[in-house]
Amino acid sequence: MQRKPIIAGNWKMNKNAAEGAALVEEIVAAVGQDHAVEVVVCPPFTALESVSSKLESSGVKLGAQNLYPEASGAYTGEISAEMLRHLFASYVILGHSERRAYFAEDDAFINRKVRHAIANQLRPILCVGETLEERDGGKTLEVVRRQLEGGLEGVENGDAPLLVIAYEPVWAIGTGKTATPEMAQEVHAFIRQILAKRFNKTAAGKIRILYGGSMKPSNAAELLAQADIDGGLIGGASLEAKSFFELIQAAKQRS
Ligand code: 13P
Repeated sequence: MQRKPIIAGNWKMNKNAAEGAALVEEIVAAVGQDHAVEVVVCPPFTALESVSSKLESSGVKLGAQNLYPEASGAYTGEISAEMLRHLFASYVILGHSERRAYFAEDDAFINRKVRHAIANQLRPILCVGETLEERDGGKTLEVVRRQLEGGLEGVENGDAPLLVIAYEPVWAIGTGKTATPEMAQEVHAFIRQILAKRFNKTAAGKIRILYGGSMKPSNAAELLAQADIDGGLIGGASLEAKSFFELIQAAKQRS
């Protein structure tokens, strides 16, 4: 398999600095020096520093859940890419459906963030996915295409390998409902096709496409067995070391 699988934990608004450090200590101990799967943890901003301090000398990587696409200035409440880099973050989740829904983020704004992340040596995990209404209306592929093309506008071919895409059907997030492996694979293959048109086939073949939405140890293996599912972006099941580690083990079968 040419693409190294990724298991990324999106902690969302959970875990304070001390709780985050304790959780990641357990994850680091479980993972040890096994680098077959790329493991990423994305704590809230307030736990980035304490979590980061536990990651030194481990292969586990740090990601943030958002950034503001300006270098510095009068943007009350916002966090810059440079601040994240300073805490040794290497990834940043962008365009998550919760930010699209609750904070009215549109594709143009998300695109600014994607380009800003790349310009500042952070690897974007760009999230796309349809709502239940859109799926029921037969609009899934149209929505995913729009979000993907909009989010990636102006990204240079040479930067394609930095990208990670997460397909997260909104109706599967935090609901216990998972897309069937076939449903997910259909969209993942479609995403790779769009990436091949947007960049080229070789670049598209290298970009990791993660599935997100109620992924847990009981359903991970069959999702991860699909040709274009290169890992997972995990919410609920990333908040405990045991289930998160089981997902890492499931992804290892792919590596
Ligand atoms: P759940 O795994 O809790 O459904 O969340 C998925 C998600 O939104 C990850 O970004």
